[in-house]
Amino acid sequence: MADRIDQFLSHRGFGTRTDVRKVIAYGRVRINGRKVKSHGQHVEGGRVTVDGVEVPVGIETATLLFHKPLGYACSTDPAESPLVEELIPPEYQHLGLNSAGRLDRDTSGLLVMTDDGALIHRLTSPKAHRGKRYRIVYSGHLSSHAVDRVTKGIHLPDDPNPCLPADLRLEADDADGLHRATLILHEGRYHQVRRMIAELGGNVERLHRDRIGGLDLPQDLVPGAMREVTPAELELLLHGPEA
Ligand code: URA
Repeated sequence: MADRIDQFLSHRGFGTRTDVRKVIAYGRVRINGRKVKSHGQHVEGGRVTVDGVEVPVGIETATLLFHKPLGYACSTDPAESPLVEELIPPEYQHLGLNSAGRLDRDTSGLLVMTDDGALIHRLTSPKAHRGKRYRIVYSGHLSSHAVDRVTKGIHLPDDPNPCLPADLRLEADDADGLHRATLILHEGRYHQVRRMIAELGGNVERLHRDRIGGLDLPQDLVPGAMREVTPAELELLLHGPEA
């Protein structure tokens, strides 16, 4: 537990960092019986008390799988509420979980939430080659060279660097007048799928991510549900074969 005391208390319901610093300044906080003199002091596994009452440490680390529903932003800016972080169960709130990559407000699907920075890197770095699979419903018509352009690394109009080679699979048309495709990406640029489809002549109407690495969105995760990853799922995320 390497948290600073102000973070530690703020993450456990004692208010903002500013609130907590006042509590510390009044001499009400102790670590292992010693009065805390600086809000930057580290907890280092010590026993923390406020006014003599012990503050429970709670869960120390977690990686959660989340089925992000439509309408929620992957952001910490309250102005963008409703936020994904508002759906994190209370017992995990103090961990300050981050998502491994983001999904737009209008995108649903699998998101990994964790306090493990190395895991985030392993899931998001293009070098780690963990594909993200997107199911796309689009209107309009893609150009005849769409698959080829994506395979070679498509240029987006407002981006100097071409996208990394990706895998676009077009599906047979449905009766509803919309078209369906699957796209597997190994990087995460801003609105990447929507921008790629637009560049190819289409318009994304619905977007859903249903696989990361070798892990499909688990069936028990209904939209909005979040639970801890199992060791077998973690193995699939990191080392499972791509679709
Ligand atoms: N690409 C997008 O355009 N949106 C997402 O949410 C994810 C990938």
